[in-house]
Amino acid sequence: MTKWSVNSWRNFAAKHLPEYPDAKKLKSTEEMLRTYPPLVFAGEARELKRNLAKVADGKAFLLQGGDCAESFDDFNADYIRDTFKVLLQMSVTLTAAGNCPVVKVGRMAGQFAKPRSAPKEEIDGIELDSYKGDIINDMEFTEDSRVPDPERMIRAYTQSASTLNLLRAFAKGGFSDLNKVHQWNMGFVDDSPQGQKYREIANKISDTLAFMNAIGISSQTTRRLRAVDFYTSHEALLLPYEECLTRTDSTTGEVYDTSAHMVWIGDRTRQPDGAHVEFCRGIKNPIGIKCGPTLESDELMKLIDILNPENEAGKITLICRFGADKVNDALPKLIKPFLKTDHNLVWSCDPMHGNTTKSNSGFKTRPFERVLHEVESFFDIHHEMGTYPGGVHLEMTGQNVTECIGGAQAIKDEDLSARYHTHCDPRLNASQAIELAFLISDKLRESQETSNPKITIAK
Ligand code: PEP
Ligand code: CO
Repeated sequence: MTKWSVNSWRNFAAKHLPEYPDAKKLKSTEEMLRTYPPLVFAGEARELKRNLAKVADGKAFLLQGGDCAESFDDFNADYIRDTFKVLLQMSVTLTAAGNCPVVKVGRMAGQFAKPRSAPKEEIDGIELDSYKGDIINDMEFTEDSRVPDPERMIRAYTQSASTLNLLRAFAKGGFSDLNKVHQWNMGFVDDSPQGQKYREIANKISDTLAFMNAIGISSQTTRRLRAVDFYTSHEALLLPYEECLTRTDSTTGEVYDTSAHMVWIGDRTRQPDGAHVEFCRGIKNPIGIKCGPTLESDELMKLIDILNPENEAGKITLICRFGADKVNDALPKLIKPFLKTDHNLVWSCDPMHGNTTKSNSGFKTRPFERVLHEVESFFDIHHEMGTYPGGVHLEMTGQNVTECIGGAQAIKDEDLSARYHTHCDPRLNASQAIELAFLISDKLRESQETSNPKITIAK
C-alpha cells in the first residue's frame, strides 16, 4: 500500500466530488480553513471509540440520528434543541425499557454534503446540476445557485461550530439532567400513545430519582445524572473540507479528522481503490461504512482490512441499509463470513435509505411500516446468527414534519405536502422516532430474555 498523507486521496479516483469552476477561490478557502481551530478534540473521538468498542462487545447500543442534510436556512436553536430532545427521549426509552446503555451520536454539526443518484435535475424541461448539499451549492432551481461555491465550506464550518457549541451546552449544562425527563416530551407528541408510554417511563425514573435523592445520590453529587456524552458525525464526502480539518494530535502524534467525532463512507463512495477510502484509512476517528445491497462480503472484508488493519475495537461501524424487501437476503450473506473471524464490528441498521419510494402525489417518502419492518428483520437475523444488533442510524428531526407516511399519526400521501421541509431525504418526525424506539426496546428485551450466549447486555 502506498504511503498515506492527508492529501494522498487526491491521487485516487473520487466519485461525487464537485468541480469548482473557480480554482483560485477554492485554494484560498482551503488555506483559510486549515488555519481554523478543530471542531472536536482527539480525546473525544478516542472516547467515542471506546464506547463503540462496548457496542461491538454487545454491552451498549448505538443511537445515531439527525437530518439527512442540515441546511443554512433551517438553522436555529429550537431545531437543534428539538432533535437533541428526541434523541434523549429515545435514549431514555432504550435504557429504561431495554436495560441497555446508549451511545448517542448526532447526524449533526457537519452533515451538509450529499451524494446524489442523478447528477442532473430537470423541471419543466429545464435541466440543471443537482443540489449537492448546502456546503456545495444552493437548492434554489437556478443556474447560478447550482454552481459549486467553495466559500460555502466556511459557512458550513461556522454553522457546525455554533451547533456543536449548543449541543455541548445541552449535553453538559443542565438540560440533560435526568430530573428533566418529563420536559423532553414535546407538545405534539404528548397526547399521542407514544407520549403516554414515554410518560410512564418518565414517571418511573422520577420515582427512582426521588428515592436516590433520599439516600443522598442526586444530580449534584453524580455527573451521570446531570449530563450526557453526545458525539457528532457526518458523511466524509467533501474531501477538500475534511482534509483541511484533519490535524495531528499533539498528545499522541495520531491524525484525526476534527470536523466530527465519527465520519462515515457513503454507499456510493466506498470503492476500496477510491479517494474516500484512501482518506479515511489514515485518520484515527471511528469510521462508519454504509453497506447497501450491491456490497459483496469479500469486498467488505477488503474494506475492513484497509480501514482497520489492526482490528481495533470500536473503529468500524457497519451501517446496513438494504431495504425491508432485501434485508432478509442480503444481511445474512454479509454477516456469514464474519462468524469465522474475530473482527471487532458494530452492526448498525439504517432503515431509511433502502426504503425510499415516490408517493402518488410525487413526494419522495418512506413508509414507516417498512422502516419498522427492516429494523425488526435486522434484529431477528442477528439473533438467529448469534451476532449482536448493535445500533440504528436514522434520518429524523424533532419537528412535527410530514415526510414519512404512516406511524401512529397515520400520515397519508395527501398529508405529505402540509409540512414537507427536508432538504434531501424524508425524515421521521419526533412521534415516529419515539415509536421506533419502543419497538427497538422490545427487540432488545427479547434478545436478552431468549438466552443467546453471544448477547451479554449489561443489566
Ligand atoms: C445518507 O446517509 O444520507 C446517504 C446518502 O446514505 P447512503 O450512502 O447509505 O445512500
Ligand atoms: Co439521506
